[in-house]
Amino acid sequence: MKYDFDKIYDRKNTGCLKWDEMKHIFGKDDLIPLWIADMDFPIAEPIKEAIKNRADHPFYGYTQAKESLLEAICNRLENKFNWKIDPEWIVFTPGVIPALNYAIRSIAYPGDGIILQEPCYHPFFPTIKNSGCQVVNNQLKLINCHYEIDFDGLKSLLKSESGRISHYKPIKSMIFCNPHNPVGRVWTKEEITKVGEIALENDLKIISDEIHSEILFNNNKHTSFATISPEFEQNSIVCISPSKTFNIPGLNISSIIIPNDKLRKEFISAQLGLPSPNLFAYTAFEAAFRYCDDWLEEVLEYLHGNLNLLIDYVDKFENVALIKPEGTYLIWLDFRGLNMDGATLNSLLKDNAGVALEEGSIFGESGNGFMRMNIAIPRPLLKIALEKIDFALKSL
Ligand SMILES: Cc1ncc(COP(=O)(O)O)c(C=O)c1O
Repeated sequence: MKYDFDKIYDRKNTGCLKWDEMKHIFGKDDLIPLWIADMDFPIAEPIKEAIKNRADHPFYGYTQAKESLLEAICNRLENKFNWKIDPEWIVFTPGVIPALNYAIRSIAYPGDGIILQEPCYHPFFPTIKNSGCQVVNNQLKLINCHYEIDFDGLKSLLKSESGRISHYKPIKSMIFCNPHNPVGRVWTKEEITKVGEIALENDLKIISDEIHSEILFNNNKHTSFATISPEFEQNSIVCISPSKTFNIPGLNISSIIIPNDKLRKEFISAQLGLPSPNLFAYTAFEAAFRYCDDWLEEVLEYLHGNLNLLIDYVDKFENVALIKPEGTYLIWLDFRGLNMDGATLNSLLKDNAGVALEEGSIFGESGNGFMRMNIAIPRPLLKIALEKIDFALKSL
């Protein structure tokens, strides 16, 4: 291994949300942070070098993506996911969440319905509501510790009054999270095909959030929504980003691939002249996509080791189950067997075990009794956290 991911860095007082915001969010600053999706691993050297080189150039003017970045994105999508795109389809935004906001505003009018699949990444809720739209839940089904899409439920939502949520308000779009945060599913080609066909039959635009597409376990293969067929491609807005894969979320950049000319023009006009990413973000993006695959390979291997460690511990925990992830480093843990209300469970983990996890209920009502754990931390620290949870559970 070239990188030492066991090393514990002091990130406190660096303006780091994960460590410095704990006091505000959890009421304590001495917890082991296993919450927000940010890895406690140092970034790949080529990213740092590229930023330093760019910083040395004495001009920090208005910036746009260089041709070489567009080329790096096109090459990566083709090599990794067999998706051949036209560089013209790429729109840059300062993150996926801003992109979801623009996408919804460009597709829907206030009052229209936007489908999500709960439990789902919690910022999807305000993103929909802040656009004046309504959240429509096509809840995932939990069958034998495995989450599945409720296709019949999706069809019936769209068929009820011909896809209307009231007499006059239609359902316009679906945020399709693949790989899915927090349940860790990497949707199969068959599942994606079914969703996409239902969408085409019902004039439903798919916003495919593929931010976690390169964090995969075992032989799971990510299929990008748009690669299924030219019709799917034309009916989708696909969000990709280097931020999760290469751990640079603080740089705020993502690339949104919109093959359909009309959808792209409408998306761009919904951006309302709001800021584009800054020059260091573009620089880091290109370095990440071109030169950091050895780092990524090591991170994936390390995460796999962390997952195995967690699985061993959860096997020992009484009344706690793990939803085995196919992708993402965010693990969905089922504490319902403890029969505790949310406040008691929170207090057990926070006050007794000294760890900060994300409470399941923020991902939707079906998340009650679950917790989301971020395992992208140095293994020695993860081990301490798991020992502490073990101790707290045994003390019950
Ligand atoms: C599914 C998903 N979408 C979007 C985001 C946030 O993306 P960004 O920081 O680019 O806005 C996250 C962050 O964890 C995520 O898990």
